[in-house]
Amino acid sequence: MKKLMGLILVTILVMSTFTGCGSKQNDVEPSTGDNTSNETQTKNKDNESTSKPKIGVTIYKYDDNFMTYTRNAMTAAAEGNAELIMNDSQNNQSVQNDQVDVMINKGVQALVINLVDPGAATTIADKAKAAGIPVIFVNKEYPDGTDKIDYESTWYVGTQSKESGDIQGKLVAAAWEEHPEWDRNGDGVMQYVMLMGEPGHPDAEARTKYSIEYIENEGIKTEELEKQTGMWDATKGKELMTTWLGKEGDKIEMVLCNNDGMALGVVEALKADGYFTDDKFMPVVGVDAIPEALDLIEEGIMVGTVLNDPLNQGKSAIQMAINVATEKDVLEGIDSELDETKAVRVPYQPITKDNIKLAKRAYGME
Ligand code: BGC
Ligand code: CA
Repeated sequence: MKKLMGLILVTILVMSTFTGCGSKQNDVEPSTGDNTSNETQTKNKDNESTSKPKIGVTIYKYDDNFMTYTRNAMTAAAEGNAELIMNDSQNNQSVQNDQVDVMINKGVQALVINLVDPGAATTIADKAKAAGIPVIFVNKEYPDGTDKIDYESTWYVGTQSKESGDIQGKLVAAAWEEHPEWDRNGDGVMQYVMLMGEPGHPDAEARTKYSIEYIENEGIKTEELEKQTGMWDATKGKELMTTWLGKEGDKIEMVLCNNDGMALGVVEALKADGYFTDDKFMPVVGVDAIPEALDLIEEGIMVGTVLNDPLNQGKSAIQMAINVATEKDVLEGIDSELDETKAVRVPYQPITKDNIKLAKRAYGME
């Protein structure tokens, strides 16, 4: 086993010499989900890892488009600054709980946790508290607020979920006003379908609610034709949209997706149904601004998205973990305040064809 680890380490070192150790964002493809190894260790290239803080990370599942970008941002932020132990929790909370136990036994000095189940924050915090290890939760927020968790050394890095719903709603309302022809049946009502992220995820709940609320507050009447969870996933998004096209046909006038991953699947289903050729068009919006969605926006296929900044979230989570692991102030080197729930909030931004560069930069594309 030791021999094998040594060999792996040497291979990594050799490879990083050839590639200049470049773990650039756009070098790394999102995981395909067939990655069965649970844990990867990132050593520092100068092999001085022992002097660097040891940080234990869990990602709810590697096979998630957006979290893959956030994960890569974490790895890049740790390079030369910390030793990361990174785990794929495979969308299973009990797997994640075990991974946390193992990392605590390995002597990690801080934990960065992307929960499977947002409600399990207290379970993880109890383990960390018993071991005296600080925890930074990232991306999935404890629904009652991180300040309600009974462990002082707990913080959150993410976004303000409601903001993404508001921005998506604003974007949809503006585009709808600009395109009266989208009201196909001319009844003055926007007949829409909604693809939701996982139930109980604060981002999914808020995006579903506040996008429509914003549109309605702009004085646009809406009618929900279909609403279901696509679990943030492109394949499920495609399946849902295919079913709805069969059932509702061209009654559908607008497709709102809680994330771009599902929007990619929706676009595939629409293309298979003859959309986006000649004059057949369907407005689709998402959230995240992942590179694949940006391409679709540039091609005039997707109307817009909402930038969910993975570089800043990943980097801040690792910086905060290093800070608390080395007994510095949690916010040292972070250009942000904590809100009343002990959270660092990274702002969302509306993205359309006009400001696509902003999103490309946030994803390290240029
Ligand atoms: C992102 C989704 C992602 C989810 C994972 C959300 O903030 O918008 O794309 O699947 O986080 O927790
Ligand atoms: Ca209509």
